[in-house]
Amino acid sequence: VKRLRVALLGCGSVGSQVARLLHEQAGDLEARVGAPVELVGVAVRRLDAPREVDLPTELLTTDAEALVRRDDVDLVVEVIGGIEPARSLILAALEHGASVVTANKALLAEDGSTLFAAAEKADRDLYYEAAVAGAIPIIRPLRESLAGDRVTRVLGIVNGTTNFILDKMDTTGAGFTETLEEAQALGYAEADPTADIEGFDAAAKAAILASLAFHTRVTAADVHREGIVDISASDIAGARDMGCVVKLLAICELVEGDHGTAVSARVHPAMIPRSHPLASVREAYNAVFVESEAAGQLMFYGPGAGGAPTASAVLGDLVTAARNRLSRVRGVGESAYAQLPVLSMGET
Ligand code: HSE
Repeated sequence: VKRLRVALLGCGSVGSQVARLLHEQAGDLEARVGAPVELVGVAVRRLDAPREVDLPTELLTTDAEALVRRDDVDLVVEVIGGIEPARSLILAALEHGASVVTANKALLAEDGSTLFAAAEKADRDLYYEAAVAGAIPIIRPLRESLAGDRVTRVLGIVNGTTNFILDKMDTTGAGFTETLEEAQALGYAEADPTADIEGFDAAAKAAILASLAFHTRVTAADVHREGIVDISASDIAGARDMGCVVKLLAICELVEGDHGTAVSARVHPAMIPRSHPLASVREAYNAVFVESEAAGQLMFYGPGAGGAPTASAVLGDLVTAARNRLSRVRGVGESAYAQLPVLSMGET
Protein backbone atom coordinates (compact mmCIF):
# COMPACT_ATOMS: atom_id res chain seq x y z
CA VAL A 1 0.00 0.00 0.00
CA LYS A 2 1.26 3.45 -0.93
CA ARG A 3 1.87 5.62 2.12
CA LEU A 4 1.36 9.37 1.83
CA ARG A 5 4.34 11.08 3.45
CA VAL A 6 3.89 14.50 4.95
CA ALA A 7 6.53 17.12 5.78
CA LEU A 8 5.46 19.86 8.16
CA LEU A 9 7.15 23.26 8.00
CA GLY A 10 6.63 25.08 11.30
CA CYS A 11 5.55 23.75 14.67
CA GLY A 12 3.98 26.74 16.41
CA SER A 13 0.37 26.83 17.58
CA VAL A 14 -1.05 25.67 14.22
CA GLY A 15 1.77 23.28 13.29
CA SER A 16 1.68 21.48 16.63
CA GLN A 17 -2.09 20.95 16.28
CA VAL A 18 -1.59 19.62 12.73
CA ALA A 19 0.97 17.14 14.11
CA ARG A 20 -1.37 16.17 16.95
CA LEU A 21 -4.34 15.56 14.63
CA LEU A 22 -2.20 13.58 12.17
CA HIS A 23 -1.18 11.33 15.04
CA GLU A 24 -4.48 11.06 16.94
CA GLN A 25 -6.68 10.65 13.87
CA ALA A 26 -4.32 8.45 11.87
CA GLY A 27 -6.90 5.65 11.59
CA ASP A 28 -9.73 7.88 10.40
CA LEU A 29 -7.44 9.74 8.01
CA GLU A 30 -6.25 6.47 6.50
CA ALA A 31 -9.86 5.37 5.99
CA ARG A 32 -10.84 8.69 4.40
CA VAL A 33 -7.79 8.94 2.16
CA GLY A 34 -7.51 5.26 1.33
CA ALA A 35 -3.88 4.98 2.46
CA PRO A 36 -1.86 5.75 5.59
CA VAL A 37 -0.90 9.40 6.00
CA GLU A 38 2.42 9.58 7.80
CA LEU A 39 4.30 12.55 9.24
CA VAL A 40 7.94 12.05 8.19
CA GLY A 41 9.57 15.34 9.18
CA VAL A 42 8.95 18.61 10.99
CA ALA A 43 11.07 21.67 10.25
CA VAL A 44 11.53 23.92 13.29
CA ARG A 45 13.66 26.93 14.06
CA ARG A 46 15.02 25.52 17.32
CA LEU A 47 15.17 21.84 18.22
CA ASP A 48 14.86 22.51 21.95
CA ALA A 49 11.98 25.05 21.88
CA PRO A 50 8.98 24.24 24.11
CA ARG A 51 6.06 22.80 22.06
CA GLU A 52 2.39 22.06 22.62
CA VAL A 53 2.89 18.53 21.32
CA ASP A 54 5.45 15.80 22.04
CA LEU A 55 7.16 14.78 18.83
CA PRO A 56 9.70 12.01 18.36
CA THR A 57 13.04 13.85 18.18
CA GLU A 58 14.01 11.98 15.00
CA LEU A 59 11.21 13.83 13.16
CA LEU A 60 12.60 17.26 13.99
CA THR A 61 15.03 19.12 11.77
CA THR A 62 16.23 22.68 11.40
CA ASP A 63 16.97 22.06 7.70
CA ALA A 64 13.63 22.87 6.04
CA GLU A 65 15.33 23.18 2.66
CA ALA A 66 16.52 19.55 2.78
CA LEU A 67 13.16 18.34 4.11
CA VAL A 68 11.14 19.74 1.18
CA ARG A 69 13.64 18.24 -1.28
CA ARG A 70 13.33 14.72 0.11
CA ASP A 71 12.27 12.35 -2.67
CA ASP A 72 9.89 10.41 -0.42
CA VAL A 73 7.79 13.45 0.59
CA ASP A 74 4.36 13.60 -1.12
CA LEU A 75 2.77 16.48 0.74
CA VAL A 76 4.25 19.61 2.33
CA VAL A 77 2.32 21.64 4.91
CA GLU A 78 3.64 25.18 5.33
CA VAL A 79 2.61 26.94 8.54
CA ILE A 80 5.68 29.14 9.08
CA GLY A 81 3.96 32.29 7.78
CA GLY A 82 5.60 35.39 6.32
CA ILE A 83 7.14 35.82 2.87
CA GLU A 84 10.60 34.23 3.16
CA PRO A 85 11.71 31.53 3.61
CA ALA A 86 8.11 30.28 3.13
CA ARG A 87 7.97 31.21 -0.58
CA SER A 88 11.29 29.53 -1.49
CA LEU A 89 10.33 26.42 0.46
CA ILE A 90 6.91 26.12 -1.21
CA LEU A 91 8.47 26.61 -4.65
CA ALA A 92 11.14 24.00 -3.91
CA ALA A 93 8.49 21.57 -2.63
CA LEU A 94 6.41 21.93 -5.82
CA GLU A 95 9.48 21.60 -8.03
CA HIS A 96 10.37 18.38 -6.23
CA GLY A 97 6.95 16.94 -6.90
CA ALA A 98 5.13 17.50 -3.59
CA SER A 99 1.62 18.91 -3.28
CA VAL A 100 1.43 21.85 -0.91
CA VAL A 101 -1.03 22.95 1.77
CA THR A 102 -0.39 26.39 3.22
CA ALA A 103 -2.03 28.77 5.68
CA ASN A 104 0.09 31.68 4.49
CA LYS A 105 -2.24 34.61 3.75
CA ALA A 106 0.53 37.22 3.56
CA LEU A 107 2.42 35.28 0.91
CA LEU A 108 -0.69 34.39 -1.12
CA ALA A 109 -1.85 38.00 -1.06
CA GLU A 110 1.54 39.40 -2.03
CA ASP A 111 2.75 36.86 -4.56
CA GLY A 112 0.09 34.20 -5.07
CA SER A 113 0.57 34.25 -8.85
CA THR A 114 4.15 32.92 -8.52
CA LEU A 115 2.92 30.05 -6.35
CA PHE A 116 -0.03 29.21 -8.60
CA ALA A 117 2.20 29.26 -11.70
CA ALA A 118 4.67 26.91 -10.00
CA ALA A 119 1.85 24.53 -8.98
CA GLU A 120 0.53 24.57 -12.54
CA LYS A 121 3.98 23.86 -13.99
CA ALA A 122 4.60 21.04 -11.53
CA ASP A 123 1.06 19.70 -12.02
CA ARG A 124 0.60 19.62 -8.25
CA ASP A 125 -2.04 20.88 -5.83
CA LEU A 126 -1.74 24.10 -3.86
CA TYR A 127 -4.46 24.36 -1.23
CA TYR A 128 -4.96 27.15 1.31
CA GLU A 129 -8.29 26.90 3.12
CA ALA A 130 -6.62 27.93 6.40
CA ALA A 131 -5.30 31.21 4.98
CA VAL A 132 -8.60 33.06 5.40
CA ALA A 133 -10.86 32.92 8.45
CA GLY A 134 -9.21 29.89 10.11
CA ALA A 135 -11.60 26.97 10.44
CA ILE A 136 -14.37 28.51 8.34
CA PRO A 137 -14.74 26.82 4.95
CA ILE A 138 -14.71 29.81 2.58
CA ILE A 139 -11.93 29.22 0.03
CA ARG A 140 -13.49 26.02 -1.28
CA PRO A 141 -17.06 27.41 -1.39
CA LEU A 142 -15.88 30.42 -3.41
CA ARG A 143 -13.59 28.40 -5.67
CA GLU A 144 -15.76 25.32 -6.12
CA SER A 145 -19.31 25.39 -4.73
CA LEU A 146 -20.09 28.82 -6.19
CA ALA A 147 -18.10 28.32 -9.41
CA GLY A 148 -21.32 28.13 -11.43
CA ASP A 149 -22.77 31.29 -9.93
CA ARG A 150 -21.82 34.96 -10.22
CA VAL A 151 -20.59 36.36 -6.91
CA THR A 152 -21.16 40.09 -6.73
CA ARG A 153 -20.08 41.00 -3.20
CA VAL A 154 -18.18 39.56 -0.26
CA LEU A 155 -18.32 41.22 3.15
CA GLY A 156 -16.05 39.71 5.75
CA ILE A 157 -15.20 40.04 9.40
CA VAL A 158 -11.89 38.29 8.86
CA ASN A 159 -9.79 39.50 11.77
CA GLY A 160 -10.64 38.10 15.18
CA THR A 161 -8.42 40.43 17.18
CA THR A 162 -10.08 43.60 15.93
CA ASN A 163 -13.55 42.09 16.21
CA PHE A 164 -12.80 41.21 19.83
CA ILE A 165 -11.65 44.77 20.53
CA LEU A 166 -14.63 46.43 18.80
CA ASP A 167 -17.09 44.05 20.48
CA LYS A 168 -15.56 44.76 23.92
CA MET A 169 -15.66 48.50 23.29
CA ASP A 170 -19.35 48.11 22.39
CA THR A 171 -20.22 46.13 25.54
CA THR A 172 -18.05 48.02 28.06
CA GLY A 173 -18.01 51.55 26.64
CA ALA A 174 -14.21 51.59 27.12
CA GLY A 175 -11.74 53.31 24.78
CA PHE A 176 -9.50 51.72 22.15
CA THR A 177 -6.14 51.73 23.98
CA GLU A 178 -7.51 50.29 27.19
CA THR A 179 -9.40 47.57 25.28
CA LEU A 180 -6.33 46.69 23.20
CA GLU A 181 -4.35 46.23 26.43
CA GLU A 182 -7.07 43.92 27.74
CA ALA A 183 -7.04 41.94 24.48
CA GLN A 184 -3.25 41.59 24.80
CA ALA A 185 -3.51 40.46 28.43
CA LEU A 186 -6.07 37.82 27.42
CA GLY A 187 -3.83 36.59 24.58
CA TYR A 188 -6.18 37.70 21.76
CA ALA A 189 -3.86 40.43 20.51
CA GLU A 190 -0.15 39.99 19.81
CA ALA A 191 2.52 41.96 21.70
CA ASP A 192 2.99 43.78 18.36
CA PRO A 193 -0.63 44.18 17.22
CA THR A 194 0.16 46.30 14.12
CA ALA A 195 -0.86 43.73 11.48
CA ASP A 196 -4.27 43.33 13.08
CA ILE A 197 -5.22 46.82 14.28
CA GLU A 198 -3.89 48.61 11.19
CA GLY A 199 -5.83 46.24 8.92
CA PHE A 200 -2.87 44.57 7.14
CA ASP A 201 -4.04 41.06 8.10
CA ALA A 202 -7.60 41.75 6.92
CA ALA A 203 -6.31 43.36 3.70
CA ALA A 204 -4.32 40.23 2.81
CA LYS A 205 -7.45 38.14 3.37
CA ALA A 206 -9.55 40.60 1.33
CA ALA A 207 -7.12 40.22 -1.59
CA ILE A 208 -7.46 36.43 -1.46
CA LEU A 209 -11.27 36.56 -1.19
CA ALA A 210 -11.63 39.09 -4.03
CA SER A 211 -9.35 37.03 -6.29
CA LEU A 212 -11.43 33.90 -5.74
CA ALA A 213 -14.84 35.53 -5.77
CA PHE A 214 -14.26 37.39 -9.03
CA HIS A 215 -11.83 34.97 -10.74
CA THR A 216 -9.20 37.66 -11.06
CA ARG A 217 -5.98 38.66 -9.35
CA VAL A 218 -6.04 41.13 -6.51
CA THR A 219 -2.96 41.65 -4.34
CA ALA A 220 -2.72 43.14 -0.85
CA ALA A 221 -1.30 46.34 -2.39
CA ASP A 222 -4.57 46.78 -4.37
CA VAL A 223 -6.66 46.83 -1.20
CA HIS A 224 -7.50 50.20 0.32
CA ARG A 225 -6.78 49.77 4.03
CA GLU A 226 -7.81 51.58 7.17
CA GLY A 227 -7.51 50.00 10.63
CA ILE A 228 -9.35 50.59 13.90
CA VAL A 229 -6.81 52.67 15.85
CA ASP A 230 -8.81 55.87 15.45
CA ILE A 231 -12.11 54.38 16.63
CA SER A 232 -13.09 56.03 19.90
CA ALA A 233 -15.60 55.18 22.59
CA SER A 234 -17.77 58.03 21.31
CA ASP A 235 -17.75 56.60 17.75
CA ILE A 236 -19.06 53.33 19.17
CA ALA A 237 -21.66 55.13 21.31
CA GLY A 238 -22.76 57.20 18.30
CA ALA A 239 -23.20 54.04 16.23
CA ARG A 240 -25.21 52.46 19.05
CA ASP A 241 -27.53 55.51 19.14
CA MET A 242 -28.21 54.88 15.46
CA GLY A 243 -28.95 51.18 16.05
CA CYS A 244 -25.59 50.12 14.62
CA VAL A 245 -22.37 48.37 15.59
CA VAL A 246 -18.90 49.19 14.28
CA LYS A 247 -17.09 46.30 12.57
CA LEU A 248 -13.83 46.14 10.67
CA LEU A 249 -15.05 44.90 7.29
CA ALA A 250 -13.25 43.49 4.30
CA ILE A 251 -15.46 44.58 1.39
CA CYS A 252 -14.93 43.06 -2.05
CA GLU A 253 -17.33 44.12 -4.79
CA LEU A 254 -17.87 43.86 -8.49
CA VAL A 255 -18.49 47.37 -9.75
CA GLU A 256 -20.07 48.25 -13.08
CA GLY A 257 -18.68 51.64 -14.12
CA ASP A 258 -18.00 53.77 -17.17
CA HIS A 259 -15.18 51.46 -18.24
CA GLY A 260 -16.95 48.16 -17.71
CA THR A 261 -16.66 45.71 -14.84
CA ALA A 262 -14.06 46.37 -12.16
CA VAL A 263 -13.27 45.18 -8.65
CA SER A 264 -13.25 47.23 -5.48
CA ALA A 265 -11.47 45.74 -2.46
CA ARG A 266 -11.15 47.63 0.80
CA VAL A 267 -10.81 47.19 4.53
CA HIS A 268 -12.18 49.79 6.90
CA PRO A 269 -14.36 50.18 9.98
CA ALA A 270 -18.03 50.33 9.00
CA MET A 271 -21.33 50.88 10.78
CA ILE A 272 -23.66 47.90 10.44
CA PRO A 273 -27.32 47.87 11.49
CA ARG A 274 -27.76 45.58 14.50
CA SER A 275 -30.29 43.61 12.46
CA HIS A 276 -27.65 42.56 9.88
CA PRO A 277 -26.31 39.00 10.37
CA LEU A 278 -22.72 40.33 10.57
CA ALA A 279 -23.66 42.44 13.62
CA SER A 280 -24.16 39.25 15.64
CA VAL A 281 -20.54 38.16 15.15
CA ARG A 282 -19.14 38.60 18.64
CA GLU A 283 -15.77 38.32 20.38
CA ALA A 284 -12.97 36.91 18.19
CA TYR A 285 -15.25 35.07 15.77
CA ASN A 286 -15.11 35.62 12.01
CA ALA A 287 -17.82 35.57 9.37
CA VAL A 288 -17.98 36.00 5.63
CA PHE A 289 -21.19 37.19 3.99
CA VAL A 290 -21.44 36.40 0.28
CA GLU A 291 -23.93 37.77 -2.23
CA SER A 292 -24.33 36.04 -5.56
CA GLU A 293 -26.80 36.21 -8.39
CA ALA A 294 -28.36 32.78 -8.17
CA ALA A 295 -27.71 31.68 -4.58
CA GLY A 296 -28.59 35.04 -3.04
CA GLN A 297 -27.13 35.71 0.40
CA LEU A 298 -24.93 33.21 2.24
CA MET A 299 -23.09 33.52 5.54
CA PHE A 300 -20.13 31.47 6.73
CA TYR A 301 -19.39 31.76 10.45
CA GLY A 302 -16.95 30.31 12.96
CA PRO A 303 -13.58 30.54 14.70
CA GLY A 304 -11.19 32.49 12.50
CA ALA A 305 -7.97 31.77 14.37
CA GLY A 306 -6.37 29.50 16.95
CA GLY A 307 -4.22 26.39 16.65
CA ALA A 308 -6.82 23.63 16.51
CA PRO A 309 -9.46 25.45 14.39
CA THR A 310 -6.83 26.49 11.84
CA ALA A 311 -5.37 22.96 11.88
CA SER A 312 -8.85 21.63 11.06
CA ALA A 313 -8.79 23.56 7.77
CA VAL A 314 -5.22 22.42 7.06
CA LEU A 315 -6.15 18.78 7.62
CA GLY A 316 -9.17 19.08 5.31
CA ASP A 317 -6.87 20.31 2.56
CA LEU A 318 -4.39 17.57 3.36
CA VAL A 319 -7.05 14.88 2.96
CA THR A 320 -8.08 16.27 -0.44
CA ALA A 321 -4.50 16.67 -1.65
CA ALA A 322 -3.68 13.13 -0.44
CA ARG A 323 -6.70 11.66 -2.24
CA ASN A 324 -5.71 13.50 -5.39
CA ARG A 325 -2.17 12.09 -5.15
CA LEU A 326 -3.53 8.57 -4.90
CA SER A 327 -5.83 8.98 -7.87
CA ARG A 328 -3.14 10.88 -9.79
CA VAL A 329 -5.34 13.87 -10.45
CA ARG A 330 -4.90 17.51 -9.72
CA GLY A 331 -7.57 19.47 -7.85
CA VAL A 332 -8.84 22.91 -8.75
CA GLY A 333 -5.99 25.27 -9.56
CA GLU A 334 -6.13 29.04 -9.69
CA SER A 335 -9.32 30.07 -11.45
CA ALA A 336 -8.29 33.62 -12.34
CA TYR A 337 -9.22 33.76 -16.01
CA ALA A 338 -9.80 37.50 -16.23
CA GLN A 339 -7.69 40.38 -15.01
CA LEU A 340 -10.32 42.88 -13.97
CA PRO A 341 -9.21 46.41 -13.16
CA VAL A 342 -9.05 47.11 -9.43
CA LEU A 343 -10.46 50.46 -8.45
CA SER A 344 -8.62 52.78 -6.13
CA MET A 345 -10.73 54.61 -3.54
CA GLY A 346 -13.08 57.20 -4.94
CA GLU A 347 -13.03 55.77 -8.48
CA THR A 348 -16.13 54.35 -10.15
N1 HSE B 1 -4.34 37.72 13.85
C1 HSE B 1 -5.37 37.02 13.13
C2 HSE B 1 -6.73 37.39 13.70
C3 HSE B 1 -5.11 35.55 13.19
O1 HSE B 1 -6.79 38.06 14.74
O2 HSE B 1 -7.75 37.07 13.12
C4 HSE B 1 -5.75 34.75 12.11
O3 HSE B 1 -5.29 35.05 10.83
